[in-house]
Amino acid sequence: MNYENLIFAVEDKIAIVTLNRPKALNALNSALLGELSQLVDTVGKDDSIEAVIITGAGDKAFVAGADIAEMKGKTPLEARAFSQLGNAIFTKIERLPQPVIAAVNGFALGGGCELAMACDIRLASPNAKFGQPEVNLGIVAGFGGTQRLPRLVGVGIAKELLMTADMISAERAAQIGLVNHVVEADQLLDKAKEMAKKMLSKAPYAVQFSKKLVNEGMNVDLDRALALESEVFGTLFGTEDRLEGMSAFVEKRPASFRKK
Ligand code: CAA
Repeated sequence: MNYENLIFAVEDKIAIVTLNRPKALNALNSALLGELSQLVDTVGKDDSIEAVIITGAGDKAFVAGADIAEMKGKTPLEARAFSQLGNAIFTKIERLPQPVIAAVNGFALGGGCELAMACDIRLASPNAKFGQPEVNLGIVAGFGGTQRLPRLVGVGIAKELLMTADMISAERAAQIGLVNHVVEADQLLDKAKEMAKKMLSKAPYAVQFSKKLVNEGMNVDLDRALALESEVFGTLFGTEDRLEGMSAFVEKRPASFRKK
């Protein structure tokens, strides 16, 4: 499939998705969101893709938010549908079976910060800037920001960012847990690939279910979340990779996992 607003490449089983509207700082319009949705569906079904990296084209922006020029003419009903669309796509990204790393190479504002938060890991270049500036526009965050931000950084800091529209540096984002690591711009993609490869070297089902348990556990009460953990813990004891991992440890050799 040919994309007009995305660049899609696969290297060493890692999909690299580049949001590509650099003249509009990669702002999310309906066309880009439609392509992203299709791409996520394709990647989710493709067993040959084992990890995903999402980044922005150009050296200025990851994504500067939803496209304000396009949003400006929307009626309340259309705006609600747009928010539902963005939420549905970002939730699909969050639930991809593969690990997803955001390589945040510049502005990650509004929908851009929300896209980064739907990823499992966020790496940022020193020039990256994060924020939820929607209150400047008379709206609230609409692609998950009011919900994923407090889950990531806590209620107090999330409310501060959502209610002041303050833009924060990559360094500050790392301090509050919004960013995992700050990495020099010219090493950002390599670092993301390196982290993806590290995950790919581990037992695949164990990595996949670690992600799923964190995601699902955040949405249910602790008793249910712990019950889910025990269920998966038990299930994985039935896998060949579990036997391989433990045998390799006891035999003092590297494990060789086979997704079995
Ligand atoms: N939508 C549409 N176009 C955008 C955009 C956006 N979110 N952000 C930037 N652009 C466009 C600008 O209009 C400009 O286009 P022209 O060259 O045609 O004028 C181009 O990208 C470059 O931007 P600037 O000239 O503004 O660049 P700057 O360096 O002076 O400022 C910036 C950069 C601080 C990121 C500024 O562009 C900005 O504030 N952008 C808007 C950020 C924002 O409010 N995002 C939230 C959107 S709402 C949202 O996302 C809702 C949601 O939750 C889903």
